Parts: sequence; structure tokens; C-alpha cells
Amino acid sequence: MRLSAANVQEELSNLMDLYTGAMSRVVTAYAERRTRERDINWVALQATKEFGAMRLHTWAMWQKARAMDELNSIRKSCEDAFEEAEHYWGLMKILDWYLEGKPCEVKEMWGYGDFTDSNGPGPGMKASLWPESQRYFALAQEQQKITASPWVREVVKTNVEGAAVAFHHLLGLLPATDEFMKRVTEHERSIADDERHHGPQMLRQLAKSVPSEKDLDQAEQMITELRVQELRQRNEQFLHPLNSSELKQLEQDFLNKKVQPIALFGAVAA
Ligand SMILES: [Fe+2]
Ligand SMILES: [Fe+2]
Repeated sequence: MRLSAANVQEELSNLMDLYTGAMSRVVTAYAERRTRERDINWVALQATKEFGAMRLHTWAMWQKARAMDELNSIRKSCEDAFEEAEHYWGLMKILDWYLEGKPCEVKEMWGYGDFTDSNGPGPGMKASLWPESQRYFALAQEQQKITASPWVREVVKTNVEGAAVAFHHLLGLLPATDEFMKRVTEHERSIADDERHHGPQMLRQLAKSVPSEKDLDQAEQMITELRVQELRQRNEQFLHPLNSSELKQLEQDFLNKKVQPIALFGAVAA
């Protein structure tokens, strides 16, 4: 039974575990090809992204309150916002320590976390500075617009935030080869622990209500496109440790299921 909750959950988490395996190649390339510039760039951009996520959850809290939603649902958004504040704050502290209190020179870094309240790219997220990141959020927004299925829309929406656990989990597993990596890996492990409860658990919820095979096929196709785009986006965030032919190869390997999966989504959702 393809549409049973157990099978849908397995299909979706297998896809996400395969993606986690692909992402590990990007994260490993960064670890092996580290430069000070790369260290500063990804931490600064990740910090502003967490800041943007904090704002998203805050907007949701306001909207829910205005609509007189359940008090617990308002509390959930409030807690989610605080969680993002912790992620943001910890990264900014690491950055400040690494820069010895000097200002960060990553160009227009605050624009990187500029999302609209529908998860799309805001005007500050410039395509001229971060084309792959801008494309990632524009793609997710476009997919939510073109699907006629509310279920697929929900899968895409939750996948945007939910997939990030792979990135954080893998960073948290890198060896603490110096003080920077010690601080980063420790903080990333705590982010991954928080994020684990977003993505994988949402998969389990959504698996219970898939309306048809057509919906499931469309969701898988859209998630796959999004995941390829996040590989590009993360490589950009690290200032391209994989060169363009290595990245192309990785995308092909992911699409052809030729990467070794890493059990993350399946393991949590079980
Ligand atoms: Fe976060
Ligand atoms: Fe989050």
C-alpha cells in the first residue's frame, strides 16, 4: 500500500536521508578546504538567517493572536521564535569572538536573512550577492503557488525549514580541530537538537493525510528540486568549497540515488 502512513513516511524520509548524504559532501568539502574568509562568511550569513527565522515565527505569533487562535498555538510560535533567537545569538557570539570584536565585513549580511512572511525572498536578499540562496526561497515560494494541492503546499512549506536539520546535524559532527570548530560544532549540535523536532516530525504528521498518489509524486518531485537547490545554496554560503564540476557531479549523484544516505530523518520519525 503505497499511500499507507508508514510507507509515505518511509518514502519521504528516504529521500531526505539521501539528501543528508549529499549534503555531507558539501560540509566535508568546507571542513577540508577551510579558510578564515569561509569561516566568517558562513557563520555571519547563518546568523542573519536565524534572525530572519525568528522574525517569521514572530509574525506567525501576531497573526495567530489577531485571529484568536488557540492560546497553545500562539505559545508555540512564541517558543519557536525564542529558539531561533538562541541560534542567532550563539552564532553572533562566535563571530564576535572570531573577529576579536571588530566589525564583520560580510557585505550586506543582514539582507541574507530577509524573508517575507510567506517564506519568500525579501528585497534585501539580493540575487546579485547570493543567487543560489535567492533562487532557493523563490523556488519554494513558486512551488507553493503552482501546486493545486493544499497537502503538497504544506509539505513544501515545512520542508523549507525542516530540511535545515541536515546542515546543522552534519556541522555538529565535524571534528573540533581548533577553538573555532570547537565552538561551532558545540553550538551546531544544540541547533540540530532543536531542528530535529521541526522537519522529521512534520513528515510523520503529513504522512498520515496524503490525499492521492498524484499528490505524493508531486511532493517528491518538488522536494527533490528544492534539495538540489539547497546543495547549491549551502555551497555558496561556504564560498564554494566544491567547484562547479564537483557540485554538478554531486547533484547528478543525488538525482541518480548514487550517494550514501545518512539516517537522520528516518531515524527521528520512526
Ligand atoms: Fe534555527
Ligand atoms: Fe528552526
